[in-house]
Amino acid sequence: MKEYLNYIEGKWVPAKSGKTLESRNPANGALIGVVPDSGTEDVNDAVDAAARAFEKWRKFSAPKRAEIIVRAVEILRARKQLLGEMLTREMGKVIQEARGDVQEAIDMGMYMAGEGRRLNGLLVPSELPNKWGMAVRDPLGVVGIITPWNFPIAVPSWKIFPALVCGNTLVWKPAEDTPVMAVEFVKILEEAGVPPGVINLVTGYGEPAGAALVDHPQVRLISFTGSTETGRLIAMKCAQNLKRVSLEMGGKNAIIVLDDADVDLAIEGILWSAFGTSGQRCTACSRVIAHQAIKKELLDKLAARASKLRLGDGLLPTTDVGPVINQEAVEKIDAYTQIARKEGAAVIVGGARAMDGALAQGFFYAPTIFDNVVPTMRVAQEEIFGPSLSVIRADSQEQAIAINNQTNYGLSTSIYTTNVNRAFEAMRDITTGLLYVNAGTIGSEVQLPFGGTRGTGNGHREGGGPVVLETFTEWKTIYVDYSGRLQRAQIDTDELSSRIVR
Ligand code: UN1
Repeated sequence: MKEYLNYIEGKWVPAKSGKTLESRNPANGALIGVVPDSGTEDVNDAVDAAARAFEKWRKFSAPKRAEIIVRAVEILRARKQLLGEMLTREMGKVIQEARGDVQEAIDMGMYMAGEGRRLNGLLVPSELPNKWGMAVRDPLGVVGIITPWNFPIAVPSWKIFPALVCGNTLVWKPAEDTPVMAVEFVKILEEAGVPPGVINLVTGYGEPAGAALVDHPQVRLISFTGSTETGRLIAMKCAQNLKRVSLEMGGKNAIIVLDDADVDLAIEGILWSAFGTSGQRCTACSRVIAHQAIKKELLDKLAARASKLRLGDGLLPTTDVGPVINQEAVEKIDAYTQIARKEGAAVIVGGARAMDGALAQGFFYAPTIFDNVVPTMRVAQEEIFGPSLSVIRADSQEQAIAINNQTNYGLSTSIYTTNVNRAFEAMRDITTGLLYVNAGTIGSEVQLPFGGTRGTGNGHREGGGPVVLETFTEWKTIYVDYSGRLQRAQIDTDELSSRIVR
């Protein structure tokens, strides 16, 4: 059995208590390894180490910090297949998607390494002569990173690479379901040359490890991706000591299919977005809002295709849909099927745990489609985070957009239409963080902002694009007066303008 350790100040160490937790393959229950079940003391050690490392790291130049990221990218690229296989074993997603998870970290590393020679600030004219005004980006200090299990490499890379290039040191608490991938990622950063103390890894549960990180007074930022429920608790705790907090949470993402859409193209997008990653992406499509004129055709074809998807171990080439993450997930997904039935929806495909043969060893749930869903039903409002799709009828584009906008989430929406005017109207009226025209709801790219409106987030964006720097830096505005005399802003400017007028 393989035992993995925490990484604190450049050393691999067990939890002080000696406690461990198991990581198991969701496809068959096989033990992947054990990792520290860390407590407050471990987190405190990690934060102390990060605080000690900060002074040196912030003075290490940004282009040099970026070079370390470039080396990490090279290692990720060389190990992509191997890491992909490990990721499928620990998390369950099919191998092509697991390789994609690693690729997204490669892309993010490439993008953020470029920031090492950019990190743009502002340089603007002063209102007074012989005076400069500018603003530079300062690192925050020690940042806390809490990541989910559904993207064990990609989502951490969205936070770790920008944190590092901006000059922060960090403590990372990964999800308890995928801690081994976190160890593998940290090993790569260590090999790439990240100095001791700059990145620290503490594995364990939200309580006590995650909570200790959130509560620690020396941690300046919590960057969290996960459930809305946990995110809300984190935000409340962070508010108490005015800690910056960046939250990426749930979604109830919809694909709108208008009456002029290419229905076959829409079906491809729906299948990929609803059942890819077994529906376990925050961007996964869980609602189809179909125009009544094409709804029957769409649903008939969709149901036929969805019922043919093959469940299985993500490492097998015959598998279309892998397992869901754990027992609790299967139970939650099944509970929503019962809720759908009770609320009057029709289960037209799936609707049960898959237990045939080898599937009984793992956590498999049949791709499921609910018809006759109305927007107020719980299955049309609440995040299920599994392969469950609700189909809702709309009579017009306006109604479809209104239905889309009426949930407590606003992460990703797609619209299928062949009419360019309708596409632009949708771009104007859909309230969402990500909007796709004639493509599914999943598959964001790292060079553009990622995040959502309403209950999905708290206004921050990550995933890429230069906006992510706003989360990981603090603005420092600097005025340099080289006039050699007292110059008073807002006051002496009066005199200046009167001189000009004269
Ligand atoms: C997530 O599910 O937390 O857009 C992230 C996508 C991926 C990222 C999903 N690039 O689906």
